[in-house]
Amino acid sequence: MAPIKNVIVIGAGGSIGTSIFSALVASTKFTVSVLTRPESTASYGPNIKVFKSDYSETSLAAAFKGQDAVVSALGAAGMGEQLKIIDAAAKAGVQRYLPSEYGCDTQNEKATSLVPAFGFKVDVIEYLRKVEARGLSWTAIETGPAFDWGLQMGLVGFNINTHEALIMDGGNRPFSATNLSQIGNAVVAVLSKPAETANQFLYVDSFTATQNQILAELEKATGRKWAVTESSTEAAAREGKELFGRGDFEGLLLLLKAVMLGEGFGSDFTEDERLANEMLGLPEQGLIETVAALVKGESV
Ligand SMILES: NC(=O)c1ccc[n+]([C@@H]2O[C@H](COP(=O)([O-])OP(=O)(O)OC[C@H]3O[C@@H](n4cnc5c(N)ncnc54)[C@H](OP(=O)(O)O)[C@@H]3O)[C@@H](O)[C@H]2O)c1
Repeated sequence: MAPIKNVIVIGAGGSIGTSIFSALVASTKFTVSVLTRPESTASYGPNIKVFKSDYSETSLAAAFKGQDAVVSALGAAGMGEQLKIIDAAAKAGVQRYLPSEYGCDTQNEKATSLVPAFGFKVDVIEYLRKVEARGLSWTAIETGPAFDWGLQMGLVGFNINTHEALIMDGGNRPFSATNLSQIGNAVVAVLSKPAETANQFLYVDSFTATQNQILAELEKATGRKWAVTESSTEAAAREGKELFGRGDFEGLLLLLKAVMLGEGFGSDFTEDERLANEMLGLPEQGLIETVAALVKGESV
């Protein structure tokens, strides 16, 4: 398999895409371009080639000409565009496609049946498996919750701004979590090892820990007790379904909490030796060093 040199990122200015884009540029291993919507307000450095695209066939063909890899970090609003994008990538002779995953295990049926939004991601993988025969390979990267990003708004039950913790099911169930910089590291590593990473799901983390272990580190690093509320993932799933059914976005966040912290959703990537950190050569990012840095306001 030929080495990957030219990489185009879609959604490079988004919550997750920003760190992927930065890691690709910082690695100096690739010539990085960006594909962005005409109405997008995101901006990039003067040395970055920016292709404006409304995801039409002609604009995608122009952007993908000569690219070795397309990395998608599209958010929920653009998720459905990926089938068109994959077709255009295959047609342009692109070698590798990274679908917009970077989260919960969408191979886990209990997870995909609880969170309707995962359906798009499942459809994309199904499509990619069909397109393999046309010469486009793929790699899906699962990261669990983006820990540092999520700490700002209580994604996995901890809010660093309010010092509040929501502990689920007693807090002793391990789950895998990844900092934004490590998501970027994973993308760089995958594109650096095209042969070893083709046509598969790869699971990565910064650390795998329980909510109680995380709470202990947060209390130690902040030097104070956090306000703890106890709940259950069963209640989160029930309430999440009800709210989401009424179109309330809070419902989706509750459903995600149930999947990230509940039993049987495949959220502990150390189970079944699924972690690919070693194969990818990812740096160590432990819970203790992560929390210490974040509490000091530093990035990890
Ligand atoms: N593990 C986690 O905790 C976690 C957290 C958040 C997200 N994720 C996952 O990461 C991936 C990216 O999510 P994200 O939250 O980073 O995405 P996002 O910030 O909501 O959007 C990413 C980009 O999508 C593009 N886009 C395309 N069509 C759009 C439209 N109609 N409206 C708005 N933007 C549109 C925009 O790029 P341009 O402006 O350049 O066109 C935007 O910057 C998803 O797969 C998501 O599920 C994981």
